[in-house]
Amino acid sequence: MAGRFITFEGGEGAGKSTHVRLLAEALRAAGVGVVETREPGGSPGAEQIRELLIHGEVARWDAMTEALLHFAARRDHVTRVVQPALTAGDWVVCDRFADSTVAYQGFGHGLGPEVIEQLYDITVGALAPDLTVILDLPADEGLRRAEARKAGGTRYERMDQAFHQRLREGFLAIAERYPERCLVVDTSQPIDAVQRSIKEAVGNRLSVELP
Ligand code: TMP
Repeated sequence: MAGRFITFEGGEGAGKSTHVRLLAEALRAAGVGVVETREPGGSPGAEQIRELLIHGEVARWDAMTEALLHFAARRDHVTRVVQPALTAGDWVVCDRFADSTVAYQGFGHGLGPEVIEQLYDITVGALAPDLTVILDLPADEGLRRAEARKAGGTRYERMDQAFHQRLREGFLAIAERYPERCLVVDTSQPIDAVQRSIKEAVGNRLSVELP
């Protein structure tokens, strides 16, 4: 049987990598084979493209070029890592996926969601996440957490406050449009409480018993 595809989304400092790791541990403890991965990146070629995207001047790429780089990285990652894992029956837990392109390049940079959906159809096709966990946090709180984590920050962390506010609105708009696929969790709560909500949703929606 094909595996399940779970993605985590949210703005900067939302705690995605922590919750990806904790959910992957819980799934493994339940006997599920898990591949933990991330975007941009997750395959050798996509990790190289990631370097082009997260370093350098804020205005290094125009919005469309940036979207195309994210989709180039995504296609490599999907064809070489995600799809083969799902076909082999493993579950894939991914730190960011295409909803980030809708939020960052579509809403943040103003390309709009429709263009991103067209690029998705061309480069990814029918594959879609079974469940997307959106970790929601006020933009200023997320940026504070992200700054505390690493001095200087990535290109995206250096984009202005209004950009980060549009991201949050973008993610919430995605959740409203795709309620069967998306779960929004308030990540200003303690880590344990957030993880409990995530495990409950994964258990119920994807029919697995988690410890
Ligand atoms: P990370 O810090 O979560 O690893 O992601 C790197 C940055 O890339 C993050 O600031 C969000 C950004 N990003 C986009 O702008 N568009 C995308 O499609 C993805 C996957 C990430």
